[in-house]
Amino acid sequence: MIPISFLGSHILALVFPLALYSFLTSFVAEKKSDQGMLYSAGKATFFVFFLLTFAVLLLIGAFITNEFGLIYVAGYSSRSLPLFFKVTGLWAGLDGSILFWTWLVSLYSVIVWSTQKNRNPDWLPTLNGVMSFIILFFVSIMVFANNPFAPSLHTPPDGKGLNPLLQNIAMVFHPPSLYLGFTGFSVPFSFALAALRTRRLDSAWIDATRRWVIVAWFFLTLGLILGGAWAYVELGWGGFWAWDPVENAALMPWLLATAYLHSVIIQKKRGMLMTWNVTLICLTFLLTIFGTYLTRSGIVQSVHAFSEGNLGPFFLGFMQLIIVVSAYFIITRLNDLKSRNRLVSQFSKENAFILNNILFVFATFTVIWGTLFPTVSEWLTGHRTTVGIPFFNKIMAPIGLLLLALMGIGPMISWKKSSWINFKRNLLLPLVLGFFGCIAFWILGIRQWYALGSFALVLFVLTTVYLEFYRGIHALRLQNKTDAWTAFKQLFVTSNRRYGGYVVHLGVLLIFIGIAGCVFKQEVDFALKPGEVYNFAGHSFRYVEPLINEDEHRTSVAVRIEILKGEKILATLIPARNFYKQSEQPSTEASIYHTLLQDIYVIVGNMDTTTSRADLRVTFNPLISYVWVGGFVILLGVVLLLMPSQKGGLKSTSTLASILFMLFLWGYPLSPVYAQGMHVETGEDPFIFLDKDSPRYHQIKEISGKIICQCGGCVRMDLASCTCSFAKGEHNKIMSMLDQGMNEEGILDAFVKKYGMPVLTEPPNRGAFRLGAALPLVMLPIVFILGIILIAKKRRKQDEVLVSGESVPANYLKKFSQEVTKNHES
Ligand code: HEM
Repeated sequence: MIPISFLGSHILALVFPLALYSFLTSFVAEKKSDQGMLYSAGKATFFVFFLLTFAVLLLIGAFITNEFGLIYVAGYSSRSLPLFFKVTGLWAGLDGSILFWTWLVSLYSVIVWSTQKNRNPDWLPTLNGVMSFIILFFVSIMVFANNPFAPSLHTPPDGKGLNPLLQNIAMVFHPPSLYLGFTGFSVPFSFALAALRTRRLDSAWIDATRRWVIVAWFFLTLGLILGGAWAYVELGWGGFWAWDPVENAALMPWLLATAYLHSVIIQKKRGMLMTWNVTLICLTFLLTIFGTYLTRSGIVQSVHAFSEGNLGPFFLGFMQLIIVVSAYFIITRLNDLKSRNRLVSQFSKENAFILNNILFVFATFTVIWGTLFPTVSEWLTGHRTTVGIPFFNKIMAPIGLLLLALMGIGPMISWKKSSWINFKRNLLLPLVLGFFGCIAFWILGIRQWYALGSFALVLFVLTTVYLEFYRGIHALRLQNKTDAWTAFKQLFVTSNRRYGGYVVHLGVLLIFIGIAGCVFKQEVDFALKPGEVYNFAGHSFRYVEPLINEDEHRTSVAVRIEILKGEKILATLIPARNFYKQSEQPSTEASIYHTLLQDIYVIVGNMDTTTSRADLRVTFNPLISYVWVGGFVILLGVVLLLMPSQKGGLKSTSTLASILFMLFLWGYPLSPVYAQGMHVETGEDPFIFLDKDSPRYHQIKEISGKIICQCGGCVRMDLASCTCSFAKGEHNKIMSMLDQGMNEEGILDAFVKKYGMPVLTEPPNRGAFRLGAALPLVMLPIVFILGIILIAKKRRKQDEVLVSGESVPANYLKKFSQEVTKNHES
């Protein structure tokens, strides 16, 4: 029998020249206008897909049959690993994930070929050429650096097993969703280059690209939501977003793609921002590669990153190529990309979209800056620092609120120029409601600025969305003489883009509610013996019994806890602590009681085996369910956006099939099963002997919150959240330093001296660090004001051109009035 390593390696070696052939032949075929040659390139593309599919199946087969002769399989699987997780080994490590990634791009490339063959034959050579080149790049990584089929010198009797944190049902859905999103952006990028190359830059490429962007955006959004849900249930710190570099890597292209989804609306309706749109889509693709570079090059430190990555030079070279090629085409096509219209007024929908884009781009810049700051600071100062949650929250919170405000204003104001009447009709009621809502929330005791701002703005935007739906339904009822429900459904048939977009906005509002709820989070650590009860925040926690289990795979120590309100038992939870035998790694399974108003999140730490006394941490997470419900609503909105519609939607059956596939995928995030399996690195509560009301307790907790645990097992948690035994030792050190009369600054300095700058959750507020950390904060208002000034200047300049008689060319005007009329009709 042929060994798998031999077969797999040779398949990859064969894919390399085939992809190269497909890439080169596509361009030669275009140059020579040789249809036969182009079809030969297409055949190579299909053959590449066939071979890569075979390679993927081969690797999955190797996992299922415990083929530990492959280094990759031995590193991520073991005999006792459930079959379910063996299959996910394909994307559990660096080499396999690159193979999976390449396969996805090749899957997209055959779909592009099949769908564009007749629709856009003039774009086909560039589309196929660019997609083949992307495949070539990833295949070259496998052939020259990271072969997933590399054989080991000695076949071990068993593999190392899968990291316990990855042994969660989310492992099946989260990475593939993210990869589908990331790789999906290679398609609009190829379209953009094809449109630039052929100089066919009218709205055709926008139409073709929009659909692909929405599909990729859907998967990226799904990946982000699943990632958040996974972090929430898996990492045990009770939160869902830690601004980890790997999370940020997925957020960056998402932010730019969201900006693009809005700015293309201006191009479609007003023929403006053509250069900007094509640049945005190239940058979005660049960021997907940049994100891959971040996680696979070892440049950033993260729990999720593939630590063995040494692929930096590959990715840097590829990114440079993307920049040079995109810049070349954009610069040489600037004439074709000229705006065909002008801004008429500052108070217009165009302007709202432009400000929306400024905010999204600024948010992207902030995420890039915060993610790279540790590396940059190392270059500049020789010290690697850490940029943690507080840094990002400080900058992203105002950006989020500004976006929220614009989300209410943008849809309500008119194109070209909004009048006072338009303002009064559309915005007065939402503004008044938002204002009085703000006062009411204040009276109800909500004083935290972020939560107050979020709730008031959510009310404001919600009113605008309601008005939009109400007016739409009203108009259709009058027009078609139908009932409200039929009119409501018709809205999505006739204008699914618009109303699908509003459903997406509704989802965003719900997520904002969920995020604002985090401000009211409450947490307590305590220890109980069986039969004892602890009271906290109006609830009682009764320790019923310990549950100890052992199988060939793991040892599990769990406790049965009842949550009571008064005499009524609300829920029985079973948080557990597991020890995985193969990987010799501990993990803890938390248990959550979900309600729409709050989650009660319980984890267990150490248990004394003689007395069964267990350390417990309980977290109350108000409104957190809205994050998941909001995510679900966003995905629903995207499905509505893609629904076949009478005007402007997708019509092909293949799209319907992909919608069904999506429906299948997003049924998952809210399933109750998901809420149960949870792990966390944990140890006993170090604060247990301190009086929770004493100033010393709060002092230690506050300082601990500024220091990152160096145990190496947790996910860059701060010392206030990490419950491992190492953290306990560090708390004791802080306590004794305080006893010696040291202040907070002295203690933080002592930690920096011992562990270096990365030990701090935020860069210290002094010197070059202060400047670096404050840069995005200072730049936010500057960029915003500059944006407004630039818009005003551009408008004045255009006015001058018009006044001086150099009017817009007549053929442009004619073409454009036709296009606008067409858009109005659609
Ligand atoms: C996180 C924030 C946001 C997300 C995730 C989001 C998402 C979306 C999506 C996916 C669409 C559908 C696009 C399409 O059909 O191609 C849409 C439509 C729309 N968005 Fe947003 N959006 C956000 C913020 C904003 C903001 C700040 C504005 C303010 C200008 C805005 C204004 C609009 C408008 C007016 C539409 C409807 C366009 C139409 O009539 O076709 N959105 N949004």
